[in-house]
Amino acid sequence: MSSLARASEAPLAARGDNAMQAFDVERVRRDFPILSRQVYGRPLVYLDSAASAQKPRQVIEAMTSVMETSYANVHRGVHKLSQEATDLFEEARRKVAAFLNAAKPDEIVFTRGATEAINLVAFSFGQKYLKAGDEVILSWLEHHSNIVPWQLLRDRLGIVIKVIPIDADGNLDLDVYHGLLSERTKLVAITHVSNALGTVVPLKAVIDAAHAREIPVLVDGCQAVPHMAVDVQALGADFYVFSGHKLFGPTGIGALYGRFDLLDSLPPYQGGGEMISTVSFERSTFKRAPHRFEAGTPAIIEAVGLAAAIDYVEALGRDAVHTHEAGLLGYATDKLSAIPGVTVVGRARDKASILSFTVEGAHPHDVGTVLDRAGVAVRAGHHCAQPIMDRFDLPATVRASFALYNTRAEVDALADAVKLVQELFG
Ligand code: ALA
Repeated sequence: MSSLARASEAPLAARGDNAMQAFDVERVRRDFPILSRQVYGRPLVYLDSAASAQKPRQVIEAMTSVMETSYANVHRGVHKLSQEATDLFEEARRKVAAFLNAAKPDEIVFTRGATEAINLVAFSFGQKYLKAGDEVILSWLEHHSNIVPWQLLRDRLGIVIKVIPIDADGNLDLDVYHGLLSERTKLVAITHVSNALGTVVPLKAVIDAAHAREIPVLVDGCQAVPHMAVDVQALGADFYVFSGHKLFGPTGIGALYGRFDLLDSLPPYQGGGEMISTVSFERSTFKRAPHRFEAGTPAIIEAVGLAAAIDYVEALGRDAVHTHEAGLLGYATDKLSAIPGVTVVGRARDKASILSFTVEGAHPHDVGTVLDRAGVAVRAGHHCAQPIMDRFDLPATVRASFALYNTRAEVDALADAVKLVQELFG
């Protein structure tokens, strides 16, 4: 893997020393080539990392390097290139396991992303453990990826979906949650951080209450892993999923963590090469977890890119990243709240990196378009989380999402662009 840590000009993230705790954001920015481009003649201000994050040179170079030097199919060939590619692929699995503090690499399944990981659990856990009338608890904070797979399962098996409500600030109502748990509950599937409001869910309390009744918990960690340290063992999560592309890695790869005994008890999700032990026309037998869940040629180059992204974030230090982003979110919240006519949607007690808002008199899509012309990229819409919009009786919001490369000057540019919107629509 060492060749993959190669990077250009004194790579920031390769240093891995305590100097990074000071968090030099300007130096971080130089690792991201796209951040130096212009949009409509203005410097790009990228505030849409919750949708997909930009990629550091270290990730780009790692992916190029494996294609130039060590690429072949994995787990199949006896030849040198295949062995090298297999080593890199399995090293990536070890990196993901360490990143989440999983007990062992065999608890990590590579998937196309978090959505596929949740669909995998819904299908395989559903097939093995659920029947008509059983209940799965979700929260009102979920985005569509953690709603629709359960609805498909409901339509197939007749399970019942219960939803934990949120209050007007976007906090989860834990009292109602405790009341929803019953002997009919067979799984809790909940986000770690809301993609639309930024609420950080008090996961430990959620998981402990479920475990007191021996109910497993799946956590959607897409919006958490880019912003904070995650320890699946300390949390007690039974399943934890995330996508590589929101973690500064490539698209087309994500991970499912599953507590090994539970994961290994599940039937296959998809059939094909690589997940079998034997095949005849009468029957097939399957490998153990995680390979049972990885049918077909996996995303080899993307796994290498994901490993490089993890190296990058780890070298910066997730606590340092978290501190930097918390300062940025506080600054942005104060700055936008001070603009008359701007309403911040979602003021939960604990929030991460997401600022949703509306501008009086302007539709969020129009706000997004004007901001874009000013070089500021945000997401405007329902953020693939329509129930939250319904909860606040809004058709949409504007969402600025922050990452480790954003600055206070960019927040100032956002605020200036919002004032421009008000001039145009006022
Ligand atoms: N879930 C992604 C978002 O929040 C697509 O934008």
